[in-house]
Amino acid sequence: MYDRFNREINYLRISVTDRCNLRCTYCMPPEGVPPLKHDDILSFDEILEVVKLVVPMGLSKIRITGGEPLVRKGIVELVAMIAQVPGIRDLGMTTNAILLDRFAEPLKSAGLHRVNVSVDTTDPQKYASITRGGDINQVFAGIEKAKQVGLRPIKLNCVIEKSHDEPDAQLVKQFGRDNGLQVRFIHMMDMETGYFRPVEGGQGGICESCNRLRLTSDGYIKPCLFSPKAYSVRDMGPAEALALALENKPKRGGQNPQGSFYNIGG
Ligand code: 5AD
Ligand code: SF4
Repeated sequence: MYDRFNREINYLRISVTDRCNLRCTYCMPPEGVPPLKHDDILSFDEILEVVKLVVPMGLSKIRITGGEPLVRKGIVELVAMIAQVPGIRDLGMTTNAILLDRFAEPLKSAGLHRVNVSVDTTDPQKYASITRGGDINQVFAGIEKAKQVGLRPIKLNCVIEKSHDEPDAQLVKQFGRDNGLQVRFIHMMDMETGYFRPVEGGQGGICESCNRLRLTSDGYIKPCLFSPKAYSVRDMGPAEALALALENKPKRGGQNPQGSFYNIGG
């Protein structure tokens, strides 16, 4: 499907939870955030209803995000439900990989194609400080397991403050080289001020060729990370929410003062 600026929209990012087992300094306050109420989070059937609607319309690339998607109860079943929808050509997940050692194999069996792993440094102390307590060894184990079971290609998402020359970014780059993994550098964004840059080595952040819509964990279809616009699939039904999101996809991102990465997905 095409938006009013003739961009082909073929990619849906689905945030399945606002919760996370880390507290990255740039994403969450130290005490975390009050979680959404259980009833406000879309059920598996509600998510599936959206997927079944959009895939035949051409959104054949699906990415599962969070928060951290692996903390959503029953995530493997959800992936299996989504993977069974005919016509999905790319089914990926973005994860911090803390729980991936345990989940890689069942996810692969459920029909997940591949994973992107968020990792901003490979230095154990620095990783613990950025994530407020995360253990990098769990990430390494998760990546290793993902490799073994064939969740390929594995890409690493590395958030940078200013440049890919930063020491932590260089460590991730070297780790990628050593392990045959593609690394993408994501400039730290600020929804409040509307600051974003193209993802180095990826497709995100380029408004002219933006191909995506988002489904938030609480059931809103969003046309843009950098716009407050959002259309509730519960209030208006998935078809109407989708049509409005498509119609209202802005030419370029602006500001989204109330927006949060842990609910919309990165
Ligand atoms: N800028 C860029 N990326 C961010 N993420 C979270 N907050 C930001 C930010 N301010 C990314 C994470 C992860 C996903 C959840 O979003 O690194 O890849
Ligand atoms: Fe969790 Fe990702 Fe936010 Fe870090 S950036 S706290 S891993 S959602």
